[in-house]
Amino acid sequence: IAVDPFDMVVFGATGDLAARKLMPALFRRDLAGQIPPEARIIGVSRSRLSREEFAGKVGGWLAEFVSEPEREPACVQRFLTRISYVPLDAAGEDGWDELARLLGEAQDRVRAFYLAVAPDLFGPICERIGKYALVTPLARVVVEKPVGKSGETARVVNDAVGAVFDESQIFRIDHYLGKETVQNLMALRFANALFEPLWNAGHVDHVQITVAETLGVAGRAGYYDNSGALRDMVQNHMLQLLCLVAMEPPTSLEADAVRDEKLKVLRALKPIREGNADQATVRGQYKAGASPDGAAPGYLEELGKPESQTETFVALRAEVQNWRWAGVPFYLRTGKRLATRVSEIVVAFRPVPYSIFGATAGPVMSNHLVIRLQPDEGVKLWLMIKDPGPGGMRLQHVPLDMSFANSFSARAPEAYERLLMDVVRGSQTLFMRRDEVEAAWAWIDPIREAWTNSEQPPRPYTAGTWGPSAAVALIERDGRSWHDDGY
Ligand code: BG6
Repeated sequence: IAVDPFDMVVFGATGDLAARKLMPALFRRDLAGQIPPEARIIGVSRSRLSREEFAGKVGGWLAEFVSEPEREPACVQRFLTRISYVPLDAAGEDGWDELARLLGEAQDRVRAFYLAVAPDLFGPICERIGKYALVTPLARVVVEKPVGKSGETARVVNDAVGAVFDESQIFRIDHYLGKETVQNLMALRFANALFEPLWNAGHVDHVQITVAETLGVAGRAGYYDNSGALRDMVQNHMLQLLCLVAMEPPTSLEADAVRDEKLKVLRALKPIREGNADQATVRGQYKAGASPDGAAPGYLEELGKPESQTETFVALRAEVQNWRWAGVPFYLRTGKRLATRVSEIVVAFRPVPYSIFGATAGPVMSNHLVIRLQPDEGVKLWLMIKDPGPGGMRLQHVPLDMSFANSFSARAPEAYERLLMDVVRGSQTLFMRRDEVEAAWAWIDPIREAWTNSEQPPRPYTAGTWGPSAAVALIERDGRSWHDDGY
């Protein structure tokens, strides 16, 4: 179903995010018939380009990032006619009058400002959006992560954006919330009567959340070295996933109903700080090793500096201090240049209280519910069954396996496709509210501080492995192990 006519102004229009994600996502929604003929996509950046030159660039990105069968030439042509371009100095005055002229005065048209730029430009851009009177009743602003580098800097960014836009107009993107399987987590939990009675400390032994990447940081080492895995992945994506697993059932899918519940989880996280950070966290940095494409350089080589304490891997043991989850550890791990690319959530249930099977049957392993976010989206429930055949009672751990690719023929839209259309529709459910972002920082800041004051540098790990061995020790110390789904 087509959305209402809109103008989407993309700041940072010649950047990586616009090229790889935003333009391909808008194109795919156009292909699906969701973008009305009057919609306009207005690229804005410092480069002095004409409309035709910018449209040519967009055409090139589509050729690179959208696969051949999807790239119907007629649709590409139609999409390119929707594109305009304004060269503009985001922190100066050049170009703003022209942008204002192009946008015109229509009050009844959705107007979205997408800030795909460095966060220190959020404030200056919003200030000018205000100054040039570009905020109409249907205006919205989309803010890319990172929102700040700490609680304090996040407040500064939020204040600057909030000085011009109302909270109901601010869309803070965490693209993990737009992923198909992440939303499926809500369906799984709240549209099935089966799991929720078991979804608590009485029946869940622990939870694991893994976001493993095989890529290194080449190309964005400059940004990454000032961030590190804790800020880049844990503060946002990983904590959002934890919230969706741990939150109480919201009363509806309405934005604030969901966000209120997530906020309670963030506020219930047991603090990790100097006294317990050594026990509860592991940070690592990759050295030269392997990647799926062959030999891979180490982080410092990619960075081009002899030294850096920035972590490219984090594992930690979180606890949610409330009635539902008391005593249930949430093990999180994420890293660059790991053995394989996989993101998944594992809910490990408690073992049976007693085995009637005897030693020859083999161990009775506990049930694991595995929600696979990527690649090969799907859900697996690991059960114990009898090994078929006449060999007596031998037990096996076998998954009940639902692969989305096999079960559904439709292509799942990419996260940005869904999120961009939600911006136009004005639905904030999959976007972070200010207090959530600040609560997440409030938990992250003391970890960062403890690391800064620690004598122990990040532990080296070889590219292409599962990170430092201390990450294995972190979970094995508790008598548990990282789930191995046979990758
Ligand atoms: C981004 C991080 O937010 O998420 C990147 O900045 C990371 O470092 C990326 O690679 C992972 O996203 P996805 O969708 O590829 O899992």
